[in-house]
Amino acid sequence: MKKFNVTLVGGGSTWTPGLLQTLCKLKERFPLNKLVLFDINEERQAVIGEFAKVLFKEEYPELDFKYTTKIEEAYNEVDFVFMQMRTGGYEMREKDEKIPLSMGLIGQETCGAGGFAYGLRSIRDMIDTVNDIRYYSKDAWILNYTNPAAIVAEALRREFPEDKRILNICDQPVNLLRSYGRILGRDSKDFEPVYFGLNHFGWFTNLYDSEGNDLVPELKSLIKERGFLPVDAEQRDQSWLDTYGMVKNMCDDFSDYLPNTYLQYYLYPDYKVKKLNPDYTRANEVMDGREKRVFEECKKVIERGTMEGCEMVHNDAHSEFMIQVAESIAYNQGKIFIVIVENNGAISNIQDDAMVEVAAVLTANGPRALRVGKIGTFYKGLIEAQLAYEKLAVDAYFEKSYEKALQALTLNRTIVDAYKARKVLDELIEANKEYWPEFK
Ligand code: NAD
Ligand code: G6P
Ligand code: MN
Repeated sequence: MKKFNVTLVGGGSTWTPGLLQTLCKLKERFPLNKLVLFDINEERQAVIGEFAKVLFKEEYPELDFKYTTKIEEAYNEVDFVFMQMRTGGYEMREKDEKIPLSMGLIGQETCGAGGFAYGLRSIRDMIDTVNDIRYYSKDAWILNYTNPAAIVAEALRREFPEDKRILNICDQPVNLLRSYGRILGRDSKDFEPVYFGLNHFGWFTNLYDSEGNDLVPELKSLIKERGFLPVDAEQRDQSWLDTYGMVKNMCDDFSDYLPNTYLQYYLYPDYKVKKLNPDYTRANEVMDGREKRVFEECKKVIERGTMEGCEMVHNDAHSEFMIQVAESIAYNQGKIFIVIVENNGAISNIQDDAMVEVAAVLTANGPRALRVGKIGTFYKGLIEAQLAYEKLAVDAYFEKSYEKALQALTLNRTIVDAYKARKVLDELIEANKEYWPEFK
């Protein structure tokens, strides 16, 4: 069985220890020869890197492992690059959330004005990193989690039009599939989904079990009856429980399909703004929760020099999804995953050059999207406005255009009013001076 060389960009991410543990768990299925963790933050990288040494000494002694902050040590002879970077860190995420909320607008990591701000920060670093990777390994597969995935995917599509080995992915559809498994009392591994939309903006239309039964009708009535919880509800913070809870409201109002949780921000922006605390947002919850827990737990493992007694819990869906996507490409398995691809007719009444999120067969030649066909007026209307927002956000970056940025934000359903769009844009420009292009 071929063994692979993998580099993880954002090696100091809070998700990295979970990914490393899952690489150990799945090492028979997706064996590694070499693993490099790369990050620009030496301190974060050293903690996670030293933790990894303890973990691998016990569970992957044959692995050639190193961590680094040097580009020239990161990308030589790599087969797969996994990316999960966060330009500006949680400090900037906090601003993305709090600036819009301070003016009564949705403040969220990937949606609305906050997602716009994060998008314009991510694009530059993502383009630079892809160029670095291609300098050393022109055939490596680049599997990207970096958010906001919709905007990153559109920017990379434009910057690297000939590069067919960049694949943007999101774990939320998988999180939802597993959560459907919980409410149905079944294993989600048996489900084959039909899904359409944009990243963080889509719907499950069907969910087939191995006998071909569609589980969506039963799921809709179960959710209406009992509400909805994430599969790992016991490990989730309150804000995530509230988010999953909103799926019931969406099913009550719009009964065709099962919505992605992120649609709550677009469908009920006023209600959500009232519920969110502008002084303590998700960034604060993460800094006080996951980030603290992960780094403290890693430090304890380093001190003890053994994994024994390690109490790290992690989201399996997140890490297994990334590794299974790589596995399907590596061994030409042709498994079906929900991923972000250029539309090219998959949703037949949406423009070809949209980066859409749909189910696709994944082989050594990349994703082949499964045809969705025509979508109804309501969904088409929602998607086209959101798509125009995403395209204009990327235009604003490349053209350094204030007016395109203003158009983008005005089109976003979480904003709508052009005066509000201008106000939030001006504050975000001020906050993002170090990161954004200077607008003309
Ligand atoms: P984090 O801040 O803990 O980790 C990000 C790491 O990236 C940090 O260690 C940081 O130093 C590093 N970094 C920043 N800029 C970099 C660069 N230019 N090159 C290399 N490393 C760089 O954040 P997190 O919460 O662990 O999330 C990491 C990323 O994964 C975010 O973009 C997040 O939105 C994304 N994410 C995406 C999905 C998805 O569904 N697509 C799911 C989970 C997380
Ligand atoms: C889901 C989404 C990701 C997002 C993450 C945020 O997994 O698919 O795109 O980054 O949630 O999680 P957090 O716990 O950082 O708010
Ligand atoms: Mn996502």
